[in-house]
Amino acid sequence: MVITDQIDKSKLPQHIAIIMDGNGRWAKLQGKNRVFGHKQGAKAVKEIVRAAGELEIKFLTLYAFSTENWNRPKFEVEALMTLLISAINEETQDLIKNNVKLLAIGDHEILPSKVKKKLYQAIDDTKNNTGLTLTLALSYSSKWEIIEAVKKIASQVKNNNLEIDEITAEIFDKNLSTSELPHPELLIRTSGEYRISNFLLWQLAYSELYFTEKLWPDFNKDELFKAIINYQQRERRFGKTSEQITH
Ligand code: IPE
Ligand code: IPE
Ligand code: MG
Repeated sequence: MVITDQIDKSKLPQHIAIIMDGNGRWAKLQGKNRVFGHKQGAKAVKEIVRAAGELEIKFLTLYAFSTENWNRPKFEVEALMTLLISAINEETQDLIKNNVKLLAIGDHEILPSKVKKKLYQAIDDTKNNTGLTLTLALSYSSKWEIIEAVKKIASQVKNNNLEIDEITAEIFDKNLSTSELPHPELLIRTSGEYRISNFLLWQLAYSELYFTEKLWPDFNKDELFKAIINYQQRERRFGKTSEQITH
């Protein structure tokens, strides 16, 4: 049992990003099919969103479905889309009640139209909320996002709205789909996989990485607190020496 008191409220990460992995393996361990694992994973999402809000974390970004995930069996992809629709239907009222603002990043043109419609309705319904900003990465690929930013910048240059020498990291950030979000200070990946899987490649440049063996459906409030406590014990040096940081 992790106690909330162990968390230093003055040193909270502003933005936590999570690669929610391990639903399939969790289901297999229960002798159930993968979809059962995704359903249980949706319950973990609910608990983590609530816990992040209570802790007054400002930004939470969840990797829900990657561009590469379109290559899974049709049955599983369809089940995930159906689950997404029901999660939006069931949770939007709670998001409003808890002052959560929903955003989504990714290539939404290829989402089924019903999913897209529900998603954008929920984004609209929560747009004036001022608490936690919850961003869902859906049909998301970081390489895709970077290429989109490059295209936007190139067309600004082509139309004489931007000089080549004016292209900076800040300009690049403004052209990413995460332009409204600070870079995550903390990235969590569950299920014992040690990779980034095409998630926020630019934005994670200086993030602290936290990997846990826990499978996503078993990741709960205490596990989130553990990750934050671990993050708070790190020394973020940004290229400097430890002496420079502590003196
Ligand atoms: C994460 O769990 C959910 C999605 C990627 C949609 P997985 O479905 O990848 O679970 P494992 O990795 O097969 O256990
Ligand atoms: C990453 O999980 C994507 C999401 C969590 C949505 P995967 O399970 O798809 O990742 P890989 O393919 O094993 O790296
Ligand atoms: Mg996986």
